Amino acid sequence: MCGIVGYAGTSSRSAEHGALDVLIEGLRRLEYRGYDSAGVAVVADGAIHSRKKAGKLVNLENQIAEAPLPDSLTGIGHTRWATHGGPSDQNAHPHLADGGKLAMIHNGIIENFAEIKATLVAEGVEFLSDTDTEVAAALLGKMYSSEAEGDLTRAMQLAVNKLEGAFTLLAVHQDHPGVVVAARRNSPLVLGLGEGENFLGSDVSGFIDFTRRAVELGQDQIVTITPESHSIIGFDGEPAEGREFSVDWDAASAEKGGFPSFMEKEIHDQPAAVADTLLGRSDAEGKLTLDELRIDPEKLAKITKIVVLACGTSAYAGSVAKYAIESWCRIPVEVELSHEFRYREPIVDKNTLIVSISQSGETMDTLMAVRYAKEQGAKTLSICNTNGSTIPRESDAVLYTHAGPEIAVASTKAFLAQITATYLLGLYLAQLRGNLFSGQIKDILADLGKIPSKIQDILDRDNEIKDLARSMADASSVLFLGRHVGYPVAMEGALKLKEIAYIHAEGFAAGELKHGPIALIDDGQPVFVVVPSPRGRDSLHSKVVSNIQEVRARGANTLVIAEEGDVDVREYAEFVFYVPETPTLLMPLLATVPLQIFACELATAKGYDVDQPRNLAKSVTVE
Ligand code: M6R
Repeated sequence: MCGIVGYAGTSSRSAEHGALDVLIEGLRRLEYRGYDSAGVAVVADGAIHSRKKAGKLVNLENQIAEAPLPDSLTGIGHTRWATHGGPSDQNAHPHLADGGKLAMIHNGIIENFAEIKATLVAEGVEFLSDTDTEVAAALLGKMYSSEAEGDLTRAMQLAVNKLEGAFTLLAVHQDHPGVVVAARRNSPLVLGLGEGENFLGSDVSGFIDFTRRAVELGQDQIVTITPESHSIIGFDGEPAEGREFSVDWDAASAEKGGFPSFMEKEIHDQPAAVADTLLGRSDAEGKLTLDELRIDPEKLAKITKIVVLACGTSAYAGSVAKYAIESWCRIPVEVELSHEFRYREPIVDKNTLIVSISQSGETMDTLMAVRYAKEQGAKTLSICNTNGSTIPRESDAVLYTHAGPEIAVASTKAFLAQITATYLLGLYLAQLRGNLFSGQIKDILADLGKIPSKIQDILDRDNEIKDLARSMADASSVLFLGRHVGYPVAMEGALKLKEIAYIHAEGFAAGELKHGPIALIDDGQPVFVVVPSPRGRDSLHSKVVSNIQEVRARGANTLVIAEEGDVDVREYAEFVFYVPETPTLLMPLLATVPLQIFACELATAKGYDVDQPRNLAKSVTVE
């Protein structure tokens, strides 16, 4: 996720630090968010001066050392996590407009940028980058010099009312030294209040070295800062207020949003990860527009088989996808671990669609498997969280997840975003092939749109599961059972516990119990059971309830994840955690969350570092 810093200071403060120092320090603090390029713009001597560079912050600093910026008291700084347009110098922020008099930085995704761009191009505006941000900058420039008559705040208000999507925008203009104007919708922005200086940041890390007084801005608000003042209005132009608070975290906790670990923060990022992955991918009629796919729709419509290639958690996302895509598209879907696929002479051809799933886009096993499939003539599509990484670069098409950088080794938010992306892919294929009516696709998208608030509901009740986890810190083995889409959820629950709590954990298909695993059940053996909706597929619910009874009869301590309103399971369970109602195929997006919380809390209770578990790397770049 991009990092954003803004600064307006006075000369009395500049003895201590000028704008550039504040911006670079803020960007350094925001590095934890992950980025692929960085840039700054300052206002000085009646002009905008900007430097930007792909790669790490040090590249930008080297560039500034070679071509120094003039002293300045006003500026904006940005670290970019690429979404529209790959990571390059050109696509790095800030973007200039109004003949270079205005600079803008942006976090988020502007959904309607293509149509705005088309209008601006027709009016003669030229663009230098592939970004949606440059379009927003050009729009702001146009508003500034036409309807807003030189009022930067008014221009921002006019511009944001034409934008759709999620964005935080910061702008400076050469005619307004000492002023930074910012706007936010569905994307974070915090104001920092200093003495004779004010700050803006994606989060408080952006200014934590300079002030502890902060103001949380509300949805659809515009803030204008000068060294001595700040004023907030809504997108409707009416005066508005933010919520002032004092930052009592140290810098390290601020990076984690106040959570004790990145993993816990990332678990809490999941409503946004799902919402951002859905953003901009369908229109109001429910028609999917996956423009980034780059495979001829006619060829996609003709595929006869899908093979999902992935490792670890990403492979479990693929297993969830199998249920959904086969159900919606009636195309056979095979899910293979990348390292197994490559060495068994698999049968793929030009009508096979290879869907690789990788958070990092750098997993060597998956990369090699994709290369092999390409050599066999298959079409390759990458579902990936890291823009510009190797696997999407080498694939014919890409569908990016927008979970933002995942720092903790154990994957959480990337998993939910991957599942969301596979649903979008499945619905898109169903649309192309005519397997579902448009009304059905629209209904499923509407259900998906409700998922972020349902995840939030689970997060708001995380204490229920945390108490259970702490009480089980001495467990030596935990089993996980599920059927249908609950099966990969069970596997993922077990993997999380193994990875970070170093506890023996196994996930099983509940129907497989009697074929062997039931022999493991002994007095007090904890068994998590992911129970499908009682409203769902015939007999699935009752089959799983029977499985609970079977293990309980043999002494198991049954811990159940069930759907709200499922009162029947109560009498068979020692513990029940209810997740909100949702269609069965979408259930993994909810049922996984309590299992992540459980593993994270149990490992924390054991005193382990949940972000950096022993023996594991975030990205496995060797075979
Ligand atoms: O970056 P990738 O998604 O390709 O990584 C695949 C696995 O290495 C990864 O999911 C791993 O299993 C995680 N540590 C799971 O939490």
